[in-house]
Amino acid sequence: MILDKASFGEDFIWGVSTAAYQIEGAHNQHGKGPSIWDVFVQKKNRIFQNHHGDTACDFYNRYIDDLYLMHRLHIPNYRFSISWSRIFPQGTGEVNQDGIDFYNRLIDLCLELKITPWITLYHWDLPEVLERKGGWTNREIKEWFGHYVSVCVSHFGDRVKHWMVLNEPAVFTAAGYFFGIHAPGRKGLDNFLAAAHHATLAQALGAKAVKSLRPDAIVGTTFSCSHVEPFRALAKDLIATRKADALLNRLFIEPLLGMGYPTQDIKILRRIEKYMKPGDEDAMAFDMDFIGIQNYTREVIRHATFVPFFGAKIVSAKERKVPMTAMNWEVYPESIYHMLKKFGAYPNMPPLIVTENGAAFPDQVVDGEVDDPQRLHFIQQALGQVLRAQQEGVPVKGYFVWTFLDNFEWAEGYYPRFGLVYVDFNTQQRIVKSSGRWYADFLKQR
Ligand code: BGC
Repeated sequence: MILDKASFGEDFIWGVSTAAYQIEGAHNQHGKGPSIWDVFVQKKNRIFQNHHGDTACDFYNRYIDDLYLMHRLHIPNYRFSISWSRIFPQGTGEVNQDGIDFYNRLIDLCLELKITPWITLYHWDLPEVLERKGGWTNREIKEWFGHYVSVCVSHFGDRVKHWMVLNEPAVFTAAGYFFGIHAPGRKGLDNFLAAAHHATLAQALGAKAVKSLRPDAIVGTTFSCSHVEPFRALAKDLIATRKADALLNRLFIEPLLGMGYPTQDIKILRRIEKYMKPGDEDAMAFDMDFIGIQNYTREVIRHATFVPFFGAKIVSAKERKVPMTAMNWEVYPESIYHMLKKFGAYPNMPPLIVTENGAAFPDQVVDGEVDDPQRLHFIQQALGQVLRAQQEGVPVKGYFVWTFLDNFEWAEGYYPRFGLVYVDFNTQQRIVKSSGRWYADFLKQR
């Protein structure tokens, strides 16, 4: 497929995304405190082959080489996250100067190499000490998070203009507090609803905190989303699909837009009101400068009487026997188009940026090279769909590939490789994949 970079517009923002725990390693170096992920990976059989992120890509010690590599690949924007427990080993209180120094060096080198830094304030690695006090289920997280955000902005805000408050609240609250398959490994509807409500408050208050210190900052937050379709043309599957849509796609964006929670379509959500205090409805809303859309696949939904609370179930790509990535996610390029259209249709929606999109496939090193035509095809198809949405009037202003380096893929460990750059986790050698070379050539186009 021939893609013309110019068709996306001159100001279109191109980049790559990463997250602290997935690449930094140096889990206890220079005063960093443990995060919930440092603790979760030590529990037996939670992570594929008991992998952990203690070293990961060792980015903390290798960021110079990695940023130079990014520069050689002509990547103009880099989205990364800050590890909260590297800044505050105790979650709050005393700042770890070494942590501040690391991100200062990282930001300064980005700027020197003409790479614009985009900071995600929270990409799932809550300080463990705060989890012991209830983590996201404790309403006090508002104060802990607000303070952490202010400290980050006061240290880095003189050079960093672009901020994202949360990464995918639907995933970290559901996987971490409902299903227990991600850190901190807690389960149950009450944990989930409490965490979801506090994350909703945090996404707005975090943005306000950035703006109050740096009114000229460009602030957004990011959402996971998947196009949903009913398995069969049956009324009960349609109802199940509407519930899944409310949970997967609407739960966090609608309160931010001032629409409240989508309780109409999923009654069980009404229980979230138990965690709400007077004034919360207003406190959940904020006018962001942009919204980050993160899309990987679509979900097909069917009614399921025996699924507690929700009565709906995902019909997996495996069951449907459709093409899949190494995550067992369906390859379905139109999903990103549908999501851009859906988000773009909300009244008063600020510009959208695809802050993550990409795919894991089983890469192999052959004669020192990694040829990954499937990933390349996936990205090109997705870009075609982004362009389609843009041409139909959706205000989509940017695209970040997930991800720069192969890394620690949460519960799946190092098995799925999403990178444009291959990492040998024994030697820490980097090899640019053919998808990475293609992206570099594409970005070089004027
Ligand atoms: C997350 C990333 C993750 C990617 C692929 C997103 O849900 O933000 O941290 O690695 O998807 O699973």
